[in-house]
Amino acid sequence: MTAIFPGTFDPITNGHLDIIRRFSRLWSDDKLIIAIAEGENAEKKPIFTLEERVDQVRALTDGVRGVEAQAFSGLLTEFARKTGARYIIRGLRNGTDFDYEMEMALINRQLAPEIETIFIPAALEHMIISSSAVRRIAGLRGNADWMLPEQIRAGLREK
Ligand code: PNS
Repeated sequence: MTAIFPGTFDPITNGHLDIIRRFSRLWSDDKLIIAIAEGENAEKKPIFTLEERVDQVRALTDGVRGVEAQAFSGLLTEFARKTGARYIIRGLRNGTDFDYEMEMALINRQLAPEIETIFIPAALEHMIISSSAVRRIAGLRGNADWMLPEQIRAGLREK
C-alpha cells in the first residue's frame, strides 16, 4: 500500500523529517512518497526551487526504507491517484493546524473519497518548528539552524 506525505518543504525541517521517520517505521515494507508541491503562485514564491527541494528531500531520506521523493503540481488528490496512493499523511502541531488540516482533509475526501487522510501528532520538541518560521527568521538574518537538518543550513544562509 502506498501513502503520500505532501508539502511545500520550503525548506524541509526537523519536524517534517521526524514525521517521515516515524511514519515509515509504522508503514514497514510499504511505499511512502514524499510529494513536493511546486508551491509557486501569485502570492508566494518559494526560497528554494522545486529541483532544490526535491534534491534536499532525496538526500535526507536516502536509506529510509520505502521512501521516495517526487515533485507535483496541481491537485494533490490527482497526483495521489496517479501514484496509486490510498493515504495522505499530514503532521499536526496544534489546534490551528487541526482547523486547517481538517478542512483540507474534508475537501480532499470530496475530491477523492477512496483516499483517507492520516494525521500524525508532532513530537513535543517540534511543536513550534515550521518552514514559514524558518523563512521569517532567515529573512531577518536570524539563526533558524535549530529548526533544520544540518544539510539544509548552509544552503539557506546562501539564499
Ligand atoms: O507544507 P504545506 O505548504 O502546508 O503543504 C500544503 C499542500 C502542498 C499539501 C497543499 O497546499 C496542497 O495539497 N496543495 C495542492 C493543491 C490541492 O490539492 N489543494 C487542496 C484542495 S483546495
